[in-house]
Amino acid sequence: MSELIVLCKTNEVEEDTPLSVSPENFPMLAVYEHEGEYFVTDNLCTHGMAVLTDGYQDGEEIECPFHGGAFSIKTGEGTSPPCFTPIKTYSVTVVDGDVCIAAG
Ligand code: FES
Repeated sequence: MSELIVLCKTNEVEEDTPLSVSPENFPMLAVYEHEGEYFVTDNLCTHGMAVLTDGYQDGEEIECPFHGGAFSIKTGEGTSPPCFTPIKTYSVTVVDGDVCIAAG
């Protein structure tokens, strides 16, 4: 099993209030909670340089603060134009209240 990187505590991120984290050796990431599950994506919009956690989480979607585009927080796919290039998603493991992703 690959090493895990701890991003935050589960109680630091709430539905509709995604958290920006900057772990070593990763781009800036966004951590989301939705219906008791946690999701992690890159935190920069692929349309411009907007920080997605400055936008609005609506259920399974994160809306970019700049041009109204949106992405699925589960798959990273663009769900609303002008967001066509997907954002990267990371598989999440929760260990003892810590939200983690694989190091590799
Ligand atoms: S920068 Fe995100 S939709 Fe344009």
